[in-house]
Amino acid sequence: MSERAGVRAVKAVIPAAGLATRFLPATKAVPKELLPVVDRPVLQYIVEEAASAGIHDVLLITGRGKTSMVDHFDPHPYLESRLEAKGDLVRLAAVRRTSDLAEIYTCRQGEPLGLGHAIGYAESHVGDAPFVVLLGDEFMEETSTLLTDMIDLQARTGGIVLAFIEVPDHEVNRYGIASVEPFEGHDVVRVTGLVEKPAIGQSPSNLAVVGRYVLPGRIFEAIKRTKPGSGGEIQLTDAMALLLAEGTPVHGIVYRGVRYDTGMPLGYLQAVVQLATKRDDLGPAFSEWLRSFVGGNPV
Ligand code: G1P
Repeated sequence: MSERAGVRAVKAVIPAAGLATRFLPATKAVPKELLPVVDRPVLQYIVEEAASAGIHDVLLITGRGKTSMVDHFDPHPYLESRLEAKGDLVRLAAVRRTSDLAEIYTCRQGEPLGLGHAIGYAESHVGDAPFVVLLGDEFMEETSTLLTDMIDLQARTGGIVLAFIEVPDHEVNRYGIASVEPFEGHDVVRVTGLVEKPAIGQSPSNLAVVGRYVLPGRIFEAIKRTKPGSGGEIQLTDAMALLLAEGTPVHGIVYRGVRYDTGMPLGYLQAVVQLATKRDDLGPAFSEWLRSFVGGNPV
């Protein structure tokens, strides 16, 4: 069942057309994907994660009011020449890096009708080859090899490769949840069932799908056959469940590293604090301030 097994995914799709109501009013005019985590927008961390897994062709599924996301990855000759004239080579390198990471392509999702619906727009760009999906509000720690490991696994097994984290019982209703059986070692599993956002108490497991997928081209045909599901939306989980039921192999890697989930204000704040403390330039002073602040003595 693994059409084109052995072919590594070389393109990524980032769905980023959502309205981001959880961050209003900040996201009324600024896409949530451009909210800064220290001094880089969330979306840049995600494109960097793709680039470090060897993916330099990125399709952004965008929507109304989101064009500034694309500007972020354009060269900016005027800004670059000003920084060069001032001799500010560190910032010059940081600005240039954004346009060197990847070729960015876009297409527009006219109406946000769900994650599956958004991915459906990628068909003409990726064709029938396997491709990667990175959700636009979460990213893994810089040293993570999760995405590379997923692409390698998919090239061996064909079909679909997912990434999982273990979540507590009261959080299962926020995620796609999988039932699994052992496949290779401790952390690579074969998926036997998938359900989008089960009610608490009715979940088949605590293994939650996180926002990294390697999908085969045949997902597009499955999306077209998928009826609205959870929240009345066309769910990617439901399209994958359809392929699973029809015999497409689905595997998953249980991820145990750090995942930054910036989709909600609490996770966003945690990401900012965690990454600020790790910075060579800001980390020492910020950590010292944070310790005194938490100890009740802001300095
Ligand atoms: C989406 C997917 C869900 C997945 C989650 C990961 O949900 O539909 O299966 O577990 O991303 O973050 P959303 O967060 O868009 O509601």
